[in-house]
Amino acid sequence: MTEQDFIPKPYKNSVENGTVTWESPSNIALIKYWGKRDLQIPENPSISFTLSECKTITKLTYTKKNDTKDFSFDVFLDGDKKDDFKPKIETFFKRIEVYVPFLKDYHFTIETKNTFPHSSGIASSASGMSALALCLMRIERLFNSEMSNTFFNQKTSFLARLGSGSACRSIEGNLIVWGATKSIENSSDLFGIKYPYKVHDNFKNYQDTILLIDKGEKQVSSTVGHQLMHGHPFAKERFAQAHDNMETLKPILETGDLNAFINLMESEALTLHAMMMTSNPYFILMKPNTLEVINRIWKFRTETGLHIGFTLDAGANVHILYPQSEKAQILEFIENELVAYCKNGEYICDQIGLGANQIE
Ligand code: DP6
Repeated sequence: MTEQDFIPKPYKNSVENGTVTWESPSNIALIKYWGKRDLQIPENPSISFTLSECKTITKLTYTKKNDTKDFSFDVFLDGDKKDDFKPKIETFFKRIEVYVPFLKDYHFTIETKNTFPHSSGIASSASGMSALALCLMRIERLFNSEMSNTFFNQKTSFLARLGSGSACRSIEGNLIVWGATKSIENSSDLFGIKYPYKVHDNFKNYQDTILLIDKGEKQVSSTVGHQLMHGHPFAKERFAQAHDNMETLKPILETGDLNAFINLMESEALTLHAMMMTSNPYFILMKPNTLEVINRIWKFRTETGLHIGFTLDAGANVHILYPQSEKAQILEFIENELVAYCKNGEYICDQIGLGANQIE
């Protein structure tokens, strides 16, 4: 597939006014996307678990307008008008206009809400951009009713990527690969695909408890962080390592080797943060409590032999991942020992999920 495949032929149907609502989940990367070029092309492959509970619900109302000169839309978060969200959406619309040529024909009202606290550091751009891409694709499907489900998912992921890279991994479940790499057949830089190989039952209903360590706005956005990988002294090695890690992960997922899984996942998380610390300008997104939690996880793991591991995204929060079979003991540990390190004692229990849903 190339970009050209996502440019539609002239539409046969016409579409008047209507509304559509989708809910789309966040995702947590096991092998991290960090570094991009051109229009949201990743420098290395990544793979993530789609989540179930952390999601964005977006209702899109579209009303045909007379002129087709400019984009016209309003955005609301939890019922409040959010003009500060508009530039990001405007950029998104500009990038995708050639693929969704009806964008200037309608006025859009975008009403959105998250099931997790705003600015909790949970990737709302992944769930937010994927939810919006899904709503737009639902409209495109009215223009072209012959569209297959496979193409719908591919193109939605392709569009979501142009809004936020990681958003392309939030359309389907449970494990999504984004970025062309030798070891994964049909993997693409343009959109995410479902992980195509065998996954052991150990990963069924895999748990993710997210400790909210710091809820403030990040000092450095992911977008800036990605840019700092240009000319980064370790970039070449890091990108090559991600390809190798993808290959290493395959037999781990197949055999259900949880110790090897944890080793790879934690190494990826710390490498991501090492890239931040070694870029110029350098920065640190972990907080003292992030490190406290990591050390306590390691100690508990050594003492109990349970399969508890962590990953981090671009922030201070800690995602604690573990198999469903060990849920009771690990949750007890989290509640007794780790909640004290969370801001206002807040954490979110989530698990691997099936992907986005249309609500109406
Ligand atoms: C650290 O997808 O938020 O979470 O493409 O600029 O929107 P943009 O960046 P974004 O980057 C996410 C980076 C990460 C790792 C990951 O999810 O793979």
